[in-house]
Amino acid sequence: MINVAIDGPAGAGKSTIAKAAAKELGFIYVDTGALYRAVAYNAVKNGVIDDEQGIISMLDDTKVELKYVEGVQSVYLNGEDVSGFIRTPEISMGASKVSAIPQVREFLLNLQREIAKTNNVIMDGRDIATVVLPDAEVKIFLFASPECRAERRYKELVEKGENVSFDDVLKDVNQRDYQDSHREIAPLKPSEESIMADTSELTLQESIDLIVNTIKERI
Ligand code: C5P
Repeated sequence: MINVAIDGPAGAGKSTIAKAAAKELGFIYVDTGALYRAVAYNAVKNGVIDDEQGIISMLDDTKVELKYVEGVQSVYLNGEDVSGFIRTPEISMGASKVSAIPQVREFLLNLQREIAKTNNVIMDGRDIATVVLPDAEVKIFLFASPECRAERRYKELVEKGENVSFDDVLKDVNQRDYQDSHREIAPLKPSEESIMADTSELTLQESIDLIVNTIKERI
């Protein structure tokens, strides 16, 4: 199986780029952020999002699964498809919070490794090259400036009809970057072998071409 790890900060375009690249290469695109989001969604639902012990206990009654239909991923929480509920700013911040808890990361680790063992995957996350798939054939660290990323996320949210301000989105991006890169466990950082890809000045299509070519050169 061929495993491609794509890590990077929120809003670098990872999911859109990785999804398109996976389609072109005939690989499965695995969005691991959705797993942390599903756990966060459960924590919010159970009123324990600010209670670390509560989140850890909740894991005993939490079942997270990923399913793929024609390459499209859905995430299931205790048998229910929650894919439509996990993209709000509240759940984004919650995902960043739960993902700093070692027990949560451990809880989701095998699920990610199992998918990569049995499929050609492009897996997108924060610690895929460093922790989840250290033997991945290709490791890419995709990034862009915080302002660029906030701009993209802002447009996305406005298109969805969310009532947000650019400054708030930028603040969220910076806060999540800080949380994700300063946590003790699996902090966001490139692995030593990662190929660095800066998409700040690239169009979406140029970014996709860059990633597809980078992968093709190495497999
Ligand atoms: O990628 P996405 O923005 O959906 O991820 C939501 C949050 O989940 C991130 O801010 C990060 O804190 C966490 N995450 C992680 N490790 C991953 C994927 C996501 O810690 N592999």
